[in-house]
Amino acid sequence: MNKIDRRSFIEHIFGWTGILALTTGALKYISSSKSKQSTLSKVVIGGKQELFANTDAIEYMIGNDKTIIIQYDDELKAFDAACTHAGCPVNWDSRSRNFICKCHGGVFNEKGDPISGPPRTSLKQYKVLLRENTDEIILYK
Ligand code: FES
Repeated sequence: MNKIDRRSFIEHIFGWTGILALTTGALKYISSSKSKQSTLSKVVIGGKQELFANTDAIEYMIGNDKTIIIQYDDELKAFDAACTHAGCPVNWDSRSRNFICKCHGGVFNEKGDPISGPPRTSLKQYKVLLRENTDEIILYK
């Protein structure tokens, strides 16, 4: 029977532990980068003329995930409705043209930048395009 000394035993254990840690880390990285790619999707929201007929903002839900799309200088802008302070939902106020968070009084301007209250970072913004020939709004999340 082979007798293993203490040093060899420790090197053996750390060697396998290191290999296991590297493999686990690599698999986590691969799986997270795959999931990030798969969550980026293109969603056809609908016709702009119809959706924006009587409003300057629309809300679009994917599950519990709310996106607010507003008209801004003849462009469309899409924002995640989760407040950057503590995640409460923000709402669009057409009169002031600001996003309001009722939880702690956070206010964001129409560029999504914080202008009042506790939030310090801008609302997350998504790419949104208008397909001119079909009048379709395309949201990329
Ligand atoms: S969660 Fe919006 S201001 Fe605190």
